[in-house]
Amino acid sequence: MMSAPSGQTVAQFIEHYQMGSPFDLDNEKAYQAWRENKLENYPENVEELIVEINDPAALTSAEYTAIHALVVKTNMAVYAGNTGRDADKEIPAKLGKQFGLTELDDNMGADDGVTSLKVVSGRWRGGYIPYTNKPIHWHTDGYYNPLDYQIRALFLHCVSPAEKGGENALLDHEIAYIHLRDTNPDYIRVFMSNDAMTIPANIKDGKEIRPDRAGPVFSVTTDGNLHMRYTARTRSIEWKNDTVTQAAVKSLAEFLDSESPCIYRATLQSGQGLISNNVLHDRSGFEDADDYKRLLYRLRYYQRIANT
Ligand SMILES: [Fe+2]
Repeated sequence: MMSAPSGQTVAQFIEHYQMGSPFDLDNEKAYQAWRENKLENYPENVEELIVEINDPAALTSAEYTAIHALVVKTNMAVYAGNTGRDADKEIPAKLGKQFGLTELDDNMGADDGVTSLKVVSGRWRGGYIPYTNKPIHWHTDGYYNPLDYQIRALFLHCVSPAEKGGENALLDHEIAYIHLRDTNPDYIRVFMSNDAMTIPANIKDGKEIRPDRAGPVFSVTTDGNLHMRYTARTRSIEWKNDTVTQAAVKSLAEFLDSESPCIYRATLQSGQGLISNNVLHDRSGFEDADDYKRLLYRLRYYQRIANT
């Protein structure tokens, strides 16, 4: 479990091979070299992603190295710590700091940047699916945020699982990119266009909470990394109405619905959590019981996990 897979960051790849960006559609040579490196020894089951740790607030260097190597390879890792049902929000926040993450997104549901994902009835949050026990379709977090405030890293920390359900499916967005580019490079071309997807304005009681937001699915950040915005929702999303974009959307949806060994499934237990560069994920529906009320903390950062 602790033997970390080999890998290199995109920045290391570009520097080492001096080939330019693998995400440039006109640079097939760099893409093929990066793709080969990426897929070599790529983990094919979730157990390979789990790193046993002692205290999440103070990782040993071996624990840090194992998690870091997994994130370099797959953009994610699952830690299994010893904090059990300790509901201290500082546990995941301190873990984030060890990975250079300090800029928490202050979204509507977060009191202190750490959002409690649990069933909430009555208050306004009950109207949003994350605060219910309903399934959530595939997405990356914050796809509706302004392009300047995209979520680069996403952490989940489990205080308590539900009695039943609440499983997350997880897919490295770079694997989704490879699938689409190998299927048809034009799918990447349309997904990199600034009008690929539009999230219509959020209007509540006649007041505009958020304006229309159009943007790409895939983009390359200034540090050369691939970023993805996506939701499988069919309501509250408008895909560009052209044949290639529609075909790309369909191809991605089919891949997410497939039995690919790169799609991991995990039901986080008390003291476990997900560390990720905002990979694609979903959540199954769940049922709470008196002793098993699902509580997960969610932390969204504007920064990517350091040195990955
Ligand atoms: Fe999410």
